Amino acid sequence: MSDDLVTIEDLHVELGGVRILKGVHASIGRGKITALIGLNGSGKTTLLRALLKEIPYTGTITFHCGHDHSQPTPHHVGYVPQKLQIDARLPLTVCDLMALTLQRRPLFLGISAKVRQTIDQLLKNVGAGALVDHPVEKLSGGELQRVLLALALHPEPELLLLDEPAAGIDFKDQEAFYQQIASLNERTGVTILLVSHELTVVTQFAHHVLCLKDGRIQCQGPPQQVLTGEVLSQIFGADTGVFAHRH
Ligand SMILES: Nc1ncnc2c1ncn2[C@@H]1O[C@H](COP(=O)(O)OP(=O)(O)OP(=O)(O)O)[C@@H](O)[C@H]1O
Ligand SMILES: [Mg+2]
Repeated sequence: MSDDLVTIEDLHVELGGVRILKGVHASIGRGKITALIGLNGSGKTTLLRALLKEIPYTGTITFHCGHDHSQPTPHHVGYVPQKLQIDARLPLTVCDLMALTLQRRPLFLGISAKVRQTIDQLLKNVGAGALVDHPVEKLSGGELQRVLLALALHPEPELLLLDEPAAGIDFKDQEAFYQQIASLNERTGVTILLVSHELTVVTQFAHHVLCLKDGRIQCQGPPQQVLTGEVLSQIFGADTGVFAHRH
């Protein structure tokens, strides 16, 4: 029985005639937090989109899901994208946006008390309870990330893909945000793949790190072992200090 939730073998992705992933071999440990790091343009978002089967690829992505690990697909994948284009003309509140995903009946019939209760709880879980009646178009980048995280957690996912989830969150709130993600992982055992440019966060919260360079995995393993000065300068070049404190 595999200890990994996902095994990726010889993954190639080409988009618009450009080779982006060039033979990725990697595994994502069941119940673990795996951090995916690499320079801008190295293919991190592309790898997540391949896992979501949003883009064509060659190679193999194998899921070992379910209680007996025999299911070929996760029952639910939660995803917080790096960027989200929301049509600002839609006069939706956070509650409306979440109800569109959570309830079967059309929004013009109103939001049921049960759905409203679920929405309140999901938002509270990510420290965003106060945003429930805010218009979506007026949310800051960080507030929107929290709302998207709340949505990604319902129904409880087997795999959670987070693409720079704290990029829009104030530096002082970032640690608390990642703490929430780490305790979610501990509490529920959800497997998390997290893209982050914050190397301090990666060393603090991730069990495993995948380093992507030019569309290939340069190295992988426990952060304390992998993220040596030598490896960091190989992946990010000499100026790793600037990179580590990008925000
Ligand atoms: N549809 C596309 N057609 C052509 N090239 C693309 C397409 N989508 C992405 N790319 C290119 O693929 C490369 C990898 O993009 P990707 O978004 O995966 O990088 P990333 O590692 O997530 O970067 P960042 O840290 O900036 O988010 C980039 O050079 C990007 O311009
Ligand atoms: Mg990206």
